[in-house]
Amino acid sequence: PIPIFTTVDSYREWRRSALDAKKTVGFVPTMGALHDGHLTLVRRSLAENDLTVLSIFVNPAQFAPHEDLATYPRTLPRDIELLFQQSYTVPTQTAENAPQIRKASTIFLPSVEEMYPSGISQTVADQKGTFVEVKGYGEQMEGKSRPTFFRGVATVVTKLFNAVEPTHAYFGQKDLQQAILLRRLASDLLLSHPTPRNLHIVPTVRDQSSGLALSSRNTYLSPAGQQVAPLLFSALTVAQEAWDLGINKAACIQRAVNIINQKKNEVQVQGLDVKLKLDYIQMNDANEFDELGAEETRNSRERPVILSGALYVDSTRLIDNIILGNA
Ligand code: PAJ
Repeated sequence: PIPIFTTVDSYREWRRSALDAKKTVGFVPTMGALHDGHLTLVRRSLAENDLTVLSIFVNPAQFAPHEDLATYPRTLPRDIELLFQQSYTVPTQTAENAPQIRKASTIFLPSVEEMYPSGISQTVADQKGTFVEVKGYGEQMEGKSRPTFFRGVATVVTKLFNAVEPTHAYFGQKDLQQAILLRRLASDLLLSHPTPRNLHIVPTVRDQSSGLALSSRNTYLSPAGQQVAPLLFSALTVAQEAWDLGINKAACIQRAVNIINQKKNEVQVQGLDVKLKLDYIQMNDANEFDELGAEETRNSRERPVILSGALYVDSTRLIDNIILGNA
């Protein structure tokens, strides 16, 4: 079994030996309740680094007071087992050499006290101590619905980077705004562990048959909820298809919204016990996050566009996105 470090000091002692040997350290920050999305990031890191560190920390600062901090799924024993099962076989040049098998090196599992020495309140007005804000990038899309979310994410990831000192870090496209904002953070704060270019974005892992993006929050869904949850990705896909045909932004989004409304009607007719509520479907520039104008089409945009959405299935908030290529 691999060591699990719950304090920054004990982790750092281990990390020093890794540093001396000039080894690369890949890092996968998570909040636990691991699924194949997380594990895909782990496997990427195993393939690309000498050592791989996974962190599990349910970060209070990124949950608003009304959100699901208390009920967020915590499945540590299973997480450890799943992590242990991941391996990467390093290709060997000659047949005589025994193949080298890489597995995760350690789990960083800090307490709230360890990560927030000044304490932490979920209410921004009550917070004391040091926080990190990436201004101009945390207010659109997810940030519009969750105004304090990216401040919490930027703060905890800065702390995790400082503690873990990775040479590479892995994030999922599932949370695309988060990953791009963190690249901006690494660049603005002149980070060297990791450098912005060593912050990698890995494509979203989906349920093979339904297209539903894997998420720790999917465990909240009722059977009826599970049945309709793939709707968000279907709606985004319809908007993508329209965009590729040269249809303007407003009309693309309208098509996606229509798909959601259609499903709402179906659910009623079928008497399914589930409530759907669309939070947003938007199109934003993938670098600056500014919202596209209603009349814009793929021909008016040279740079990639983020098509993203959030949908409540009962009280579970699901998010997803697709990157739209340029013309
Ligand atoms: P969490 O939701 O646990 O996700 C950890 C990482 O796994 C993130 O980079 C996320 O984008 C990625 N991930 C989740 N589902 C995925 C999927 N279906 N396909 C590919 N990648 C997926 O994101 C967080 O935790 C937190 O905000 C964190 C960065 C740890 C800071 O607290």
